[in-house]
Amino acid sequence: MNKKVGVVIGGSGLIGGTIVNYYKTVHADTIDIRAPSSKKLSLREEDDIRRYMIEVNPHFIINAAMANLGSDGQLAYEVNYRGPVNLARAAAGLGVPLIHMTSAATLPPGKNLTEQDTLSLRPNLSNYAKSKLMAEKSLHLMARTGSLDYSCVRLAIVYGAHDHKIQGFHRLLFSVADESMPVLFTKKNTLHSYTNAKKLPYLVHHMLEHREEFSGQTFNFVDRQPVDLSALILEIKSFLNLNLPKKIYVPFWFATSGKKTLEIMLRLFRRVGLKANLPPELIFLDSFYKSQTLSITKLEKSSFVDPYPWETIHTMLPELIYYYLSRWTRENLITTYKDKLDHEKSVEDIFDQDPQRLLDLVHAQGLNAYSDLSEN
Ligand SMILES: NC(=O)c1ccc[n+]([C@@H]2O[C@H](COP(=O)([O-])OP(=O)(O)OC[C@H]3O[C@@H](n4cnc5c(N)ncnc54)[C@H](OP(=O)(O)O)[C@@H]3O)[C@@H](O)[C@H]2O)c1
Repeated sequence: MNKKVGVVIGGSGLIGGTIVNYYKTVHADTIDIRAPSSKKLSLREEDDIRRYMIEVNPHFIINAAMANLGSDGQLAYEVNYRGPVNLARAAAGLGVPLIHMTSAATLPPGKNLTEQDTLSLRPNLSNYAKSKLMAEKSLHLMARTGSLDYSCVRLAIVYGAHDHKIQGFHRLLFSVADESMPVLFTKKNTLHSYTNAKKLPYLVHHMLEHREEFSGQTFNFVDRQPVDLSALILEIKSFLNLNLPKKIYVPFWFATSGKKTLEIMLRLFRRVGLKANLPPELIFLDSFYKSQTLSITKLEKSSFVDPYPWETIHTMLPELIYYYLSRWTRENLITTYKDKLDHEKSVEDIFDQDPQRLLDLVHAQGLNAYSDLSEN
């Protein structure tokens, strides 16, 4: 049988890598998935896109590339906006679908935000939000005028394995594990939506198999239940048995003045020739203090069925913590857990010696009734 060829841009990243891995393991018999590196196909180079697409002639294209969060305007514009537009022009030229990943950074704060609730395009948005929003707008226009078959998937805070760059949720996990977060930089009851990277390839594949339903559409893709940021931080702390962060909520004005002081100091450093930048996550400082939850009503009304409805950031936490701590320890980014990880006890040992730990773990993973059983 002739296999379909699919191209993933950004295949070395957290999202792209998860999609490539899914196709290579679940659909290897029917789909030949290609993931050119950014050296082979840079979204910044229109010629790269045209040459590669002519050479490979794919049946579908998935865009999971992004410029680093702290990128300057030029890079963000080229990778997050111009590149996706040129990719869309290639998809339209070939007459094949494009699945494009976008971000909740294009939405304002608020609760239960729908796919339409986007920010308006303003100069003062961050480079990341501005470029992602511009891409959403141009792709939507191309689809409306009939030249493009695309679907856009909007992700919130992503959790999953293989985040080499330690961004978003994994940076938070790192800061708690490294005990570099002394207090809570958030306020009580700040809720956010989270996206499970492992589930995403199932949606992408489903969208590709059902073009009439999904073409020209944007879908929020997040877990059903929003997550309380401070509760999540304290859950990680308790799981790791740490003393920090203390349960002290730092007010927003104090956190922003700290950020401003840091900005001034870095500007001074740069004047004397030292290259130093603000940690990229600080562009999201506002969102640590403001709830942002996304509605999944549209997705739930679609024909897509969540392959793992019981999985959430809470149920995945032990697995993620073990995965990242082992990885960061091997990479010498963190040393505190070396002994613990080297001598990680088996479940049987923990059951024998520390049953409370297992009890806490199972409770944290959830004791709710299986909702899919009661629906049946
Ligand atoms: N991670 C999150 O929490 C999150 C949240 C919301 C939305 N998203 C969206 O999900 C998508 C993927 O994010 P991610 O977290 O997987 O990103 P990531 O881990 O930082 O990976 C980014 C990917 O983009 C590639 N890339 C960078 N510059 C490129 C260029 N000029 N040409 C071609 N490829 C280039 C990188 O390749 P090289 O390594 O070779 O440069 C890498 O494979 C993005 O659209 C992002 O906006 C992510």
